[in-house]
Amino acid sequence: MKINDIQTPSLLVDEVRLERNIRRMAQRIETLGCRLRPHVKTHKSIEVFERVRNAGHTHGITVSTLHEAEYFFEHGVTDIFYGVGIAPNKLAQVASLLERGCELRITLDSVEMAELVAADGEHRGRPFDVLIELDTDGHRSGVLPESLELLKIGKLLHESDGTTLSGVMTHAGDSYACSSPKALLQIARQERDRTVFAANRLRDAGLPCPVVSVGSTPTALSIDDLSGVTEVRAGVYVFFDLVMAGIGVCTIDDIAVSVLTSVIGYQREKNWVVTDAGWMAMSRDRGTAGQEVDQGYGLVYDEGQGFAGDLLVVSANQEHGIVSTRDPSLPVAYGELPLGALLRVFPNHACATAGQYDKYYAIDGDGLISEWSRTNGW
Ligand SMILES: Cc1ncc(COP(=O)(O)O)c(C=O)c1O
Repeated sequence: MKINDIQTPSLLVDEVRLERNIRRMAQRIETLGCRLRPHVKTHKSIEVFERVRNAGHTHGITVSTLHEAEYFFEHGVTDIFYGVGIAPNKLAQVASLLERGCELRITLDSVEMAELVAADGEHRGRPFDVLIELDTDGHRSGVLPESLELLKIGKLLHESDGTTLSGVMTHAGDSYACSSPKALLQIARQERDRTVFAANRLRDAGLPCPVVSVGSTPTALSIDDLSGVTEVRAGVYVFFDLVMAGIGVCTIDDIAVSVLTSVIGYQREKNWVVTDAGWMAMSRDRGTAGQEVDQGYGLVYDEGQGFAGDLLVVSANQEHGIVSTRDPSLPVAYGELPLGALLRVFPNHACATAGQYDKYYAIDGDGLISEWSRTNGW
């Protein structure tokens, strides 16, 4: 298969960049003397995960849906952490996965939810394995490491026959708002320190806390010492994206995923090129809008990756992408963009863009293309 045989829009993976990104994280984890529990929500693909596993220093995976857990379990992965706060209506599926031999761990962040999960586990006669979610940066969810609630939840999970307390986890999502190495190091240390502090509080109260789990791509690539942490969960680093480039943890040349699109028309008086990759192909994510360099709906290169980054998808309809020059006073070089020409668009947020597709076209260093699987849904 050649690139011209692919129907657009489609999702491409550059295998050379992918392998390089995977090696980079594996080497960091090795240097830090820790272990990686990669978050597979970015790629949702066994072919990508196999490459991550082959690079070493992994144990288990993190998933963002039980659907992912089922997919990876079917592909032989048994050690799985579901990293989104549990809801009672999911416990039957969690129990079913446990029944089938999956070592599935869940998370929660309130006494009330701990009570519900413990009661459900007791009723089923099979305990749920739980990590307490911590709020270490005010980003989203979790209990505060210094709160009384942490100890109450810990005690309840430990004492109930319906649950096993396995430890604590956090995700420093505020790292996405950082833009300097200093700020990144600071939030990475904060993520580590506050999580280790919470783990020690549980231990001081006589409770078990074998798992101390942290992670995001920016903090994993910035931290200098992971003493006290047992695992790092990073995900988007396999592909990287324009948001990560804006934060400064990768360059545009590291981005391994792009949308292949065709030129379908022009509006010359508006300085526009129209493509078949609108927001359904790119996702609605405008994550670079708040960064120093706004990349619109994506950065446009030609199929051979030329154009030096001055073309953007400046706006998007459902199926139409509007491509123009970053600097509106500069004219589009229409001569380089014939009708039917193939373009590659690098996305703002790799997870969101990849979520629009049910497979990948992976291109190796010799330009050979193979299809890789991907799973979507809940
Ligand atoms: C709970 C949790 N852990 C880990 C990650 C991985 O973060 P990243 O994609 O920055 O590597 C995420 C990402 O949203 C997450 O929600």
